[in-house]
Amino acid sequence: MKVALGVTGGIAANKAAEIVRLLQDCNVQVQVVMTRSAQEFVRPLTFAALTGRKVITGMFGPEGAESVPNLDSAVEHMAVAQEIDALVVAPATADTIAKLAQGIADDFLSTLHLATKAPVIIAPAMNVNMWEHPATQANLAILRERGVHIVEPDSGYLACGMIGSGRLAANETIVSAVMDALHATRELAGETVLITAGPTREPIDPVRYIGNRSSGKMGYALAEAALRMGAKVILVSGPTALKPPEPVEFIAVQTADEMRTAVLSKLEQATIVIKAAAVADYKPKQVASQKIKRKGPLTLELEPTADIVAEVGQRRDRQLVIGFAAETENVIENARKKLNSKSLDAIVVNDISKPGIGFDSEDNAVTILTADREIEVPKASKQQIALEILKVVSSLEQRRSAPQRTSR
Ligand SMILES: Cc1cc2nc3c(=O)[nH]c(=O)nc-3n(C[C@H](O)[C@H](O)[C@H](O)COP(=O)(O)O)c2cc1C
Repeated sequence: MKVALGVTGGIAANKAAEIVRLLQDCNVQVQVVMTRSAQEFVRPLTFAALTGRKVITGMFGPEGAESVPNLDSAVEHMAVAQEIDALVVAPATADTIAKLAQGIADDFLSTLHLATKAPVIIAPAMNVNMWEHPATQANLAILRERGVHIVEPDSGYLACGMIGSGRLAANETIVSAVMDALHATRELAGETVLITAGPTREPIDPVRYIGNRSSGKMGYALAEAALRMGAKVILVSGPTALKPPEPVEFIAVQTADEMRTAVLSKLEQATIVIKAAAVADYKPKQVASQKIKRKGPLTLELEPTADIVAEVGQRRDRQLVIGFAAETENVIENARKKLNSKSLDAIVVNDISKPGIGFDSEDNAVTILTADREIEVPKASKQQIALEILKVVSSLEQRRSAPQRTSR
């Protein structure tokens, strides 16, 4: 999740640093954009240090008497409009609110506002008379009408010495509004989710392997959904054509053995393990050191790979373990057997005999089995299915930690 945070020229500009930190805690990447006036209140360096990225301070590169306009910088900056999932302006001055309402685009922030299709959240902060002025209220009405989310300011003592409305809303309230706009929650905050994804490749010789049709889409969608729910994510993936979501700890593997090593080495850090990878059940007993030449018929002798799910089930202590099963017959019955025999907390079952779902498709339809529940999730995008799976995981997690919380 990427957010542009516009900081404008008011006393509350210094509070934006804490907003950056809170957003980062929710796995949100922040690109700070400052107006010229904002830089009179806080130095860009503060935000650059917090975010580890350049702060955008002007349309044509950094502004200042000695700076030369730079077109590359302008193009690079405009890419931000396409990349972001939300634009937040906090604090928003009366001046910037007026510009956004009227569609003026005379600096980077106001141009970005016109150039992006991402949701916009504005947290105004100003003197009470500025806030109550009919011009400001009319501008806010225009923005609200357009679907912009206004985080209402609080009332109280203002920096100017007056009392009334206009104090920047609490940072947590602003961050909650951003998370709502991103359809993100904090349900898995504090959890570390270890997810396996994709196929494995079991080598036959230096150029050939036994693989399977898994695309990794389900596992990557789970990683993305877990990030949106506030978790730290470790993604162990077989070879796929997908780009890992950010920010995850990414471990690329090829074979079932490599996946086993990676999973067991990270098990201690994890509180939830989701085994969505399609790990090969068999591998060639002998791997030829040279490319096998075509002669007559060839018989490959296979041996079972390590059963990673079962091993995780045995070794885990506090972790919730969720497995996947791709079945073609006696779907629920087979999956329930696997749930019990491998000591899993839940199993997500795919009926891969149905067309248009499962392997390598965008959609899926699953049944989630727990010890006492059977939850049908009808055909939907893998992103939607991932959210449904994680909601069940989150409810298992809450149930598990409830007695400990009350006894503390
Ligand atoms: C000390 C000081 C504090 C200010 N605080 C605010 C404020 O809290 N809210 C506001 O709307 N304007 C405030 N202003 C006025 C803005 O800085 C001014 O309108 C500026 O043009 C805003 O530019 P910007 O919207 O591009 O950041 C303040 C000005 C000064 C000198």
